[in-house]
Amino acid sequence: MYLTREEERMLEGEYGYAVQKSMEILVALGEIYEAERMVEIKSAQISGVSYKSLGEEGLEFIEELAEDGRVRVPTTLNPCGIDLERWRELGFPEEFAEKQLRVIKAYLKLGIKQTLTCTPYLAGNRPRFGDHIAWSESSAIIYANSVLGARTNREGGPSALAAAIAGRTPLYGLHLDENRVPGIEVKIPKPLSGYGYAALGFLVGRLAGDKIPLFRGMKLISDEELRLLGAALACSGGIPLFHIEGITPEAKLNPNMRASERYEVEADEIKEVYEELNDHDVDPDLIFIGCPHSSIRELIIFLELLEDRAVKKKTWIFTSRATRDLGERLGVVEKLERLGVKVVCDTCPIVAPIRELGVRSIATNSAKGAWFSRNLNGLKIRFMPIESLVELAVK
Ligand code: F3S
Repeated sequence: MYLTREEERMLEGEYGYAVQKSMEILVALGEIYEAERMVEIKSAQISGVSYKSLGEEGLEFIEELAEDGRVRVPTTLNPCGIDLERWRELGFPEEFAEKQLRVIKAYLKLGIKQTLTCTPYLAGNRPRFGDHIAWSESSAIIYANSVLGARTNREGGPSALAAAIAGRTPLYGLHLDENRVPGIEVKIPKPLSGYGYAALGFLVGRLAGDKIPLFRGMKLISDEELRLLGAALACSGGIPLFHIEGITPEAKLNPNMRASERYEVEADEIKEVYEELNDHDVDPDLIFIGCPHSSIRELIIFLELLEDRAVKKKTWIFTSRATRDLGERLGVVEKLERLGVKVVCDTCPIVAPIRELGVRSIATNSAKGAWFSRNLNGLKIRFMPIESLVELAVK
């Protein structure tokens, strides 16, 4: 792999331990994937922030890098395991919170912004079309690649952090035009809405394998639906990029975009996903939206659907602090909380120690949220549209 003289010096340790370690990780990756050279990046998004997923070893690794390291590009953080301001009130365990705060401190020392959200593009880190970036967090990666037209591989927490410290990443995979072309065209049975897109993403993620899907025949889709669709595609199939004819930027630039393989989704297949993601006879302990983190529009929609009725069950909306702040200024958060809904920041339903909060079953409109709640956290799940979640909450 070709390295500039500057990159060689970084690798030789002239810029300190953290830069050297980072370059070692990046060069090893570049060699595995046969990258010709490095490419400078515009931003990074780091996952692996919750102490629950990092553990003691991960915490020590970050503290070690933070001793002499500093990020070279704007870098943001994925959700951690607690709401930094309200963890006591919400019942998060003290010992866990202490470890979590140490993790955050180390990241801050590295110069990383304390955004703590999987929607960094709604919190100040919004790449432009064609930007090379190094992001981890599958739902953010697929949004950045597909909806914004930026270019990132599916980084893990360590490689994204290494790229942030070195300011570059190996040039391979989705950084190159030839790897961004669709491999399968997908036609949908009829216009879907809301959680229907989450179910579609879950289905297509499985059947596309390692092929990039090109959706055809979709007319209108909201930003919130794009995020539910993308998160589900990335969850069930590890897909990092999709195109939608006439909608996503690369498909718009190339109206003749086609793939050799075709698949027509049947309405029954979507129904099967609804079935699969529902454990029957479950009265959920927690109802949530916000996987990926909710936008201000979703907060407003939830409030409107409540029609001034108070919730009777534990109901949380997970969002970024940036969105919560906006919601506070608009008076939305105050109204939601008056009706009993908690607007929870900095964390997420999957990386929080949810079982330690006494939760054994959940209901959500997110296919990703449902899937991981069952498979990572061992919870019973209900998967339903936002309207049904609200009715369940007030019942
Ligand atoms: Fe975000 Fe957590 Fe879901 S990181 S996409 S809310 S699993």
